Amino acid sequence: MEQKDKHLKVTAIKNGTVLDHIPAESLFKVIDILNLSKRSNQITIGSNLDSRSMGKKGIIKISEHFFEDEEIGEIALIAPNATINIIRDYEVVEKKIISIPESFVGIFRCMNPMCVTNHQDIPTKFTTVRERDEVLLLCHYCEKTTDTRNLKIVSKK
Ligand code: CTP
Ligand code: ZN
Repeated sequence: MEQKDKHLKVTAIKNGTVLDHIPAESLFKVIDILNLSKRSNQITIGSNLDSRSMGKKGIIKISEHFFEDEEIGEIALIAPNATINIIRDYEVVEKKIISIPESFVGIFRCMNPMCVTNHQDIPTKFTTVRERDEVLLLCHYCEKTTDTRNLKIVSKK
């Protein structure tokens, strides 16, 4: 091991998924969205790690789990440059870039306080729209848009 490196690094895993290059401020949202607190897999997390390209980053390593593309699509909104590394027998066998899905159900809150989804137990439903270089979520119920900079997550049961 490199003794002179004072920063803690997260140990390599044998099989599973490594979510790398997560913006430091989005790490815990990603953990929520992926519902990691409910998993029994071995999970290691690094927060505020030094990154040459990002300054600070977050990383999540989940042993023995490989996500379906639909499961990780939501994190494209809050961690657009995250890399999904598939690890088999200690080797990175695939690197996936996540693309933003066209619609979202039941993950993010509608920003409109008057929206029915904020008053009744109805899953939120959005369509992704692009305006200039910004991504917005258009609510299916109230037709207001929610910007993706301050997305609030609907808490999972
Ligand atoms: N990783 C791991 N366990 C392994 C192999 C890799 O946890 N058995 C992690 C590495 O620590 C790294 C990520 O998976 O965070 C991707 O590995 P690799 O492609 O080798 O690293 P980089 O080249 O730095 O990746 P990138 O180019 O995406 O920055
Ligand atoms: Zn709404």
